[in-house]
Amino acid sequence: MTDLRVTGGRPLRGRIRVPGDKSISHRALLLAARAEGTSVVRGLSDGDDVCRTRSAIEALGAGVDGERIEGGSGRLGEPDKVLDVGNSGTGIRLLAGFCAGFDWLTVVAGDASVARRPMDRVVEPLRTMGATVDGRQGGRYPPLVVRGGGLAGIDYTLPVASAQVKTAVLLAGLGAEGDTVVREPVPTRAHTEEMLALCGADIEVIGDGAERVVRLRASTLQPFDLDVPGDPSQAAFWVVAACITPGSDLVVDQVYLGPGRAGFLDVLRRMGADVEQTGPDGVRARYGPMHGTEVGGVEVPGLIDEIPVLAVAAAVADGPTLFGGAAELRVKESDRIATVAEGLRAFGAAVETRADGLIVGGKSTLVAGRATAEGDHRVAMAMAVAAMAADGESVVEGWESVATSYPAFEADMASLGGESRS
Ligand code: S3P
Repeated sequence: MTDLRVTGGRPLRGRIRVPGDKSISHRALLLAARAEGTSVVRGLSDGDDVCRTRSAIEALGAGVDGERIEGGSGRLGEPDKVLDVGNSGTGIRLLAGFCAGFDWLTVVAGDASVARRPMDRVVEPLRTMGATVDGRQGGRYPPLVVRGGGLAGIDYTLPVASAQVKTAVLLAGLGAEGDTVVREPVPTRAHTEEMLALCGADIEVIGDGAERVVRLRASTLQPFDLDVPGDPSQAAFWVVAACITPGSDLVVDQVYLGPGRAGFLDVLRRMGADVEQTGPDGVRARYGPMHGTEVGGVEVPGLIDEIPVLAVAAAVADGPTLFGGAAELRVKESDRIATVAEGLRAFGAAVETRADGLIVGGKSTLVAGRATAEGDHRVAMAMAVAAMAADGESVVEGWESVATSYPAFEADMASLGGESRS
């Protein structure tokens, strides 16, 4: 295990770009593999999760040469090895949907954390479409074994608000007979619909308010050219770090701020934080006082990945903050309700846990502490943010987990004036 040692209390100032968005990167690779011809994708996430999806499409027959990806039905075929997604829940669920569209056998597996992530949410709809899918405990857990092809479209209402499930069903639906309809009682990130439209798929999206319906017909995808925008979930770490570290003033440039991803900025604004959008895709954040708020309901899917770092902001805000309706946090890379609470307590914050969320006491002066990442990249980075605001030297144990999504985090911290060593 690697420790990150952070010297806190140093103002964060300057401009920064974060890695390419992870959700868009996974989808870009899979859609380019399916598209008939050569796509060009610039700025993919350089984290291990996305590297695994790149290796997976290569194992399925796509040709990847730097930014150029050659895909199409003439290239793809049964892989001769297990597809190993590493730590990526998105990777395994999306690949299950992708492979269900073909009549070959695929085995998809991951690390110990992925082995504990629920898969029934994708296995059930894929079976209903006609794929044969199995996994441990009757298909509830990885590894997954998928034999697909000959699918029929379904009309599916998402039982959990999950963009991963929506995407798995739509990827399978690309080759299914008849319409594939996904109904979202609560909207989730819209990258798959946006990118399928970019590839010329026969897709329509109805409604953008409470209920959204996505309708897809079997489609041949056209190759595409894409600049992957910066990852808002990674930008959130720097935005919160600036909000809570005295003297800070920074701008994160070229961030995706589209549907289902910018909710963390709304929460910070509600807390009175000094954050503003600069131009179409920049975010400026400055240190200033904040107060507690309530986070819950339909906004949760749009900021679920940012709750660990929003909880850090809540710890120093004036008054308590309640995070509710977020039981999904329990089945992420770690049980984030437990790991975030434990981590924040290590910095002196008062935190209570609930079945579906957290109550963060607020008004804490963060003290130097020793927290553990519990194998979870977002917990590691959230604790590094707490450490930036705490006086003295703090330690984040298990820092190596950050390689799954943000290998350059430490270098970026240094470029903003932060101090750390690992
Ligand atoms: C993701 C969707 C979210 C999110 C994950 C990435 C995606 O998960 O937490 O980090 O790329 O579709 P769920 O869809 O399971 O909520």
